Amino acid sequence: MAGARPKITIVGAGTVGTAAAHWIASRQLGDVVLVDIVEGLPQGKALDLQQAGPIAGFDVRVVGTNDYADTTGSRVVIVTAGVPRKPGMTREELVGTNAGIVRAVVEQVVPRSPDAVFIIVTNPLDAMTYLAYRVSGLPRERLFGLSGALDSTRFRTFLALELGVSLQDVQAMVIGAHTDKDMVPLASSANVRGVPVSQLMSAERLQAVVARTRRAGAEITELMKASAFTAPGAALCAMTEAVLRDQKRVIPCCVYLDGEYGERDVCVGVPVVLGAGGVERILEVALSEEEERAFRASVAATRELLAALPA
Ligand code: APR
Repeated sequence: MAGARPKITIVGAGTVGTAAAHWIASRQLGDVVLVDIVEGLPQGKALDLQQAGPIAGFDVRVVGTNDYADTTGSRVVIVTAGVPRKPGMTREELVGTNAGIVRAVVEQVVPRSPDAVFIIVTNPLDAMTYLAYRVSGLPRERLFGLSGALDSTRFRTFLALELGVSLQDVQAMVIGAHTDKDMVPLASSANVRGVPVSQLMSAERLQAVVARTRRAGAEITELMKASAFTAPGAALCAMTEAVLRDQKRVIPCCVYLDGEYGERDVCVGVPVVLGAGGVERILEVALSEEEERAFRASVAATRELLAALPA
């Protein structure tokens, strides 16, 4: 599959990996390699997606494989391999099982694509990103996790629905840990075309939207007895596009902190500038007192989870 198009590897041909592949192929970001441990699964998923090309109008190649040799020379590697949560489970409960999977995957993919940008998706996200960062030995700019892109699009959606305005006209970010309890939706800077949402809705309604945002993933899991994949896939596609097209998009990502926000040696969601180099800058934005308190609690909870990581 050597060619001029960038190669994007997605490890884990489950629901999130397949949705990401779908969005990425339809935006023609590059050729897609789907890898999974289950024989036949990534090959079948890849063929199915490839066969949509003539109708959907994309020309990129989609390949499924169980062999990491096919991932060699990727520009972006997305790691979704792992076990997802079942109804009633928290993301944190997955730590032991998924740590072994993420470690094994990182050891396979990083040596074959040492210059790639790596995006971790496996939950519990902040702990898995930290583990992958440590195991990989990569600079933090090129290994980070999906959290804020997804949580923020959910926050924006709920704000837009509540206000009855276009989904596109709402801007808002979610930082902190990617958990129901500890994510930090930044209500103080949420706005509609620059107008603070606090001018457009009551404090009670805003609090209700924040609460729904925290439980957005859980709400879906309870409804359909399986975890979400379409919005996670779209968020991954946006992050991949920001890197491959050097867009300098401002997207909160889970990244290793080395003094930013007064924190060190922990991976947690903060706003960053995403471009060809991966995380090109971390933006330290002003938080309200309440957001600041919530962010500290979020980091503390993440540190507790890191302590539970297998050595
Ligand atoms: N190597 C490669 N693939 C693996 C491995 C491994 N060692 N272990 C598991 N997988 C694959 C599974 O075979 C499965 O196809 O990972 C895929 C995971 O897909 P799903 O079970 O459908 O899970 P999904 O909903 O896509 O979520 C994946 O992302 O959001 C997180 O919590 C979620 O950790 C979970 C991950």
